[in-house]
Amino acid sequence: MPLADEVAEVPAQVFCDADRFEREKQLIFRRVPVVVAASCEIPRGGDHLSLDIAGVPVLVMRGRDGAARAFLNACSHRGAILVNGEGSASRLKCPYHGWVYDDTGALVGVPCRQEFGEVDASALGLRPFPVRERAGLVWAVLDPSSTLDIDGFLGDFGHMLEQFGLASWHVLAKRSMVGANWKLTFDAHLDFYHLPVLHRNTFGSDVSPHAFYYHWGPHQRLARPGKRGGPVGQGHVDLFTQKDLPQDEWTVEAMLLGEWIVYPNVSINSFYQGGRGVLISQIFPGETVGESVTVQTYLLEHEPDDADRAAALALFDFLGRVVADEDLPMSFEQQRSLASGMVESYRYGRNEGGLQRFHQWTDQILDTADASLNELFQSDL
Ligand code: FES
Repeated sequence: MPLADEVAEVPAQVFCDADRFEREKQLIFRRVPVVVAASCEIPRGGDHLSLDIAGVPVLVMRGRDGAARAFLNACSHRGAILVNGEGSASRLKCPYHGWVYDDTGALVGVPCRQEFGEVDASALGLRPFPVRERAGLVWAVLDPSSTLDIDGFLGDFGHMLEQFGLASWHVLAKRSMVGANWKLTFDAHLDFYHLPVLHRNTFGSDVSPHAFYYHWGPHQRLARPGKRGGPVGQGHVDLFTQKDLPQDEWTVEAMLLGEWIVYPNVSINSFYQGGRGVLISQIFPGETVGESVTVQTYLLEHEPDDADRAAALALFDFLGRVVADEDLPMSFEQQRSLASGMVESYRYGRNEGGLQRFHQWTDQILDTADASLNELFQSDL
């Protein structure tokens, strides 16, 4: 199994320093493309959802022209949050004074227009963010003036993700959970080492702690050796026996097994209970350095019948308990020891090369000027 060159130390302040946390929000979450929705969450024109990313209220909406767009979720009159939650409508009406926007974000209605006075409605649409919809996911850069090349950021990794075909999948369920610092929480998604220990009562103590890490720029894929492709419901395909088959017999499913890490904060895991499915986990910074929000969205390849829906929901509940009862409490325990001020550094072993890589990329992005970001994402560090 390939190993990192050496054990790496990461200063503990990376996880608990408030100034560093603010820089991460500004320089990572407002400069790096982030997944704001799965395409199938907003399949029809007018479908929309809201979310908060690093203090930025975001509205994601599909127009009747088929294009997915993302906007600052703030009315251009006096800043009311336009949408809370999900819905479908060809017009969005501000809940404060009733300004109206269409499905492309254009301002199309101002109540009491005569009395309000002269305004240039054409310049007062919702503030748009750069967006790219690809591989059944919608990315946005939360900087309206960004010139970052989202396709360049994804590179060949985007091509790999496209093989899932997620655009035509179906949303089964979604939920959010609170955890400690976003990197403490996300580390667990890059880490198979803990599986047979922390998750001994759920995944089992015999699940492999080993991970093969592959990378494309800042993005990664983890694969587990052995007969079982994963801890739950993945037993019928095995990535590593494919090499014994002629290449034209390799299955797309096997090629996509494992965990896909979309930098900076998304993991995608495959499962096979109630049909082929993926769990998309998004880990967002919370309000303070010691808080994060994990959003889990479960997609199914095919529209489920009642039996498949029940089976997939049972799996979704199980995965929720694993994270809520085991991973997230552990992240809070780590944060508690950090709060003592007496933890100086963390160690990432040679078997944890993917985590080393994640933290190296995060440090590098923080140190990179806007004008050099495109170039950075073409590099391999
Ligand atoms: Fe939206 Fe006034 S803040 S209409």
